[in-house]
Amino acid sequence: MIRDEQIRILKGLINHLDSKTNVDAGGIMKAPADTYTSQERFDREWDSFFLNHPQIIGMSGDLPKNNSFFTTEEFGKPILATRNDKGEYKAYANICSHRGVIVEGEKRGEKSRFSCPFHGWTYSNEGSLVGYPKSDQFGKIDKDCYGLKELPTLEKYGFLWVHPSEKGDINLNELLGSKLIEEFSSWNFEELVLGNEENYVTDMNWKLAIDTFGETYHFSVLHKDTLFQSFHGNCQMFDSFKRNGRLILCKRDIDEMRKLPEAEWNICTGSLPVYYLFPNIIFMPTNEGAFLVKEYPLENSPHKSVSQISFYFYPHVLEYVENQKRSGIEESPLEEQYVGFAEVIRDEDYVVAASSHKGLLSGSLDYLTYGKNEPALHHYHNTYREALGLQSLPLIEA
Ligand code: FES
Ligand SMILES: [Fe+2]
Repeated sequence: MIRDEQIRILKGLINHLDSKTNVDAGGIMKAPADTYTSQERFDREWDSFFLNHPQIIGMSGDLPKNNSFFTTEEFGKPILATRNDKGEYKAYANICSHRGVIVEGEKRGEKSRFSCPFHGWTYSNEGSLVGYPKSDQFGKIDKDCYGLKELPTLEKYGFLWVHPSEKGDINLNELLGSKLIEEFSSWNFEELVLGNEENYVTDMNWKLAIDTFGETYHFSVLHKDTLFQSFHGNCQMFDSFKRNGRLILCKRDIDEMRKLPEAEWNICTGSLPVYYLFPNIIFMPTNEGAFLVKEYPLENSPHKSVSQISFYFYPHVLEYVENQKRSGIEESPLEEQYVGFAEVIRDEDYVVAASSHKGLLSGSLDYLTYGKNEPALHHYHNTYREALGLQSLPLIEA
């Protein structure tokens, strides 16, 4: 992150701690309960935010080498993402041009040829049909017309975007805006190496999963024995960038860091930045790497969703850990720490989020209320509404 911005944010957190204040949205906001339960609202979201919107499907580290690939089908279109022989990131509809079967069934791996499990039609990682068995008996076809359908892609600042529609456009100026582009180019996310990925299926609306990342008001209660031990609850900074947001959570390490000269301050030592990238991504950079959380609805339902939580490490961190091990120094394994964080989200946040979904479904609540200290929730709920052409929720004095 840009140095001046790091210092501004860290000073803002310290100021909140010293004055016992928090970020203040200027009012509370009330959202109708059916934001999360209406099938009609959900259908519009699915169409606008998933079927017809650029998607971040991973990081550059998900395709670490030439001939790496991974597949995903969480937003309505099965996707095969590849890195070709020239190192370029490409994405295709993972659908066989013969009879429509999913071509590659593995989640990820390394190969340059993909063979359909039905009749063995084979495609290159450039999407072209390289062969089909018994061609003399099947009949002569123009192979150029039978490739995998290529989709628009973009790899930038360490993120992999794909547009589910062949004619879709991925315009970063529109998606991120110049301020966030400048900020992302000041990190080194393109270096990140994949550590692990977990999928958590939960009976809740996909937006409830995102909400759990939108405030730290709950830390001293829900996470009192876990995250609250390493974070100051209810102390945040928030900025928005077009439809995206950046919430800054305050780590307790800031108490020691602030005693050092400013030149030694670091945003990831004193805080956990939480980027919300419209419509369904939470990205949290750390000193060792980053978490990427992708939230998807499941089964075309407002009542079920899956969270894909991946974490990544910087190569120099992995090297340091290896060297420590070689020197016989036992440290708590990085992977375990990161898995532990993801498990807190699953076992604490998603449990209450599912409970909230149940409560909302019961019909006994007309509105949910987002506090003055929860500006990220204000921002992205109004963002969703604006994107669907719905009226903004007003700020109510409180
Ligand atoms: S459907 Fe793929 S080879 Fe026949
Ligand atoms: Fe939480």
